[in-house]
Amino acid sequence: MEEIQPGIYASRNKLFTENLEPGETVYGEALVQEGGVEYRRWVENRSKVGAAVKKGMDIELNRGDNVLYLGAASGTTVSHFSDILTDGVIVGVEYSDSVIRGLVELAEMRDNVAPVLGNARNPEEYEEYLGEYDYIFQDISQRDQPEIFLKNVHRYLKEDGIGLLAVKARSISDSRSAEEIFEEVREKVSEELNIVDEVDLAPFEKDHIVLKVRL
Ligand SMILES: C[S@@+](CC[C@H](N)C(=O)[O-])C[C@H]1O[C@@H](n2cnc3c(N)ncnc32)[C@H](O)[C@@H]1O
Repeated sequence: MEEIQPGIYASRNKLFTENLEPGETVYGEALVQEGGVEYRRWVENRSKVGAAVKKGMDIELNRGDNVLYLGAASGTTVSHFSDILTDGVIVGVEYSDSVIRGLVELAEMRDNVAPVLGNARNPEEYEEYLGEYDYIFQDISQRDQPEIFLKNVHRYLKEDGIGLLAVKARSISDSRSAEEIFEEVREKVSEELNIVDEVDLAPFEKDHIVLKVRL
């Protein structure tokens, strides 16, 4: 295993994180033992952050970061963040009370995961958790995904923090071209933030990009 970014390992062209809960899988991913350590395969087709790393993005996630994760779903990607963040926590916001059940189960096994039933359109709903974050990631399939992200970044991201926005073109419009939609999102985001990197997630996800931003 080679550590290619903090807490992210690669072996034979596959990504892994070190399993915080040895013996337990989260979404049916493979477990691999090497040198007395157990690793979980990070499946890039199941995780937009995994796909972004696979496509060469330095996600700049550090082991001590506190992360606000918007659109946490049942915790597939949250579980890999949890493996990486040996000295940080993840507050995972999800608005579907059925979907969040998986995340609640995950949080019962992992001390660094806090599930929050809330709507990312209303950031004040989760102000009781942490007042600021080193890192904000959003993966929300809504028409107003850039506006939701900007609202949360302005409210919660630390001055030197990093934001990652997964953009799903087809949730914004299914009639316009993906490139036209991405350009509109880039313009909206760059009016308020600095876009420092971008990757297209093909072939792992169609019509998706990930933008990395700083204040
Ligand atoms: C594509 S899934 C996220 C998958 C997850 N990021 C992963 O990799 O494991 C998007 C999730 O965002 C949630 N969602 C959509 N709109 C939301 C909102 N306004 N606030 C919070 N969650 C929302 C959906 O219920 C869904 O579970």
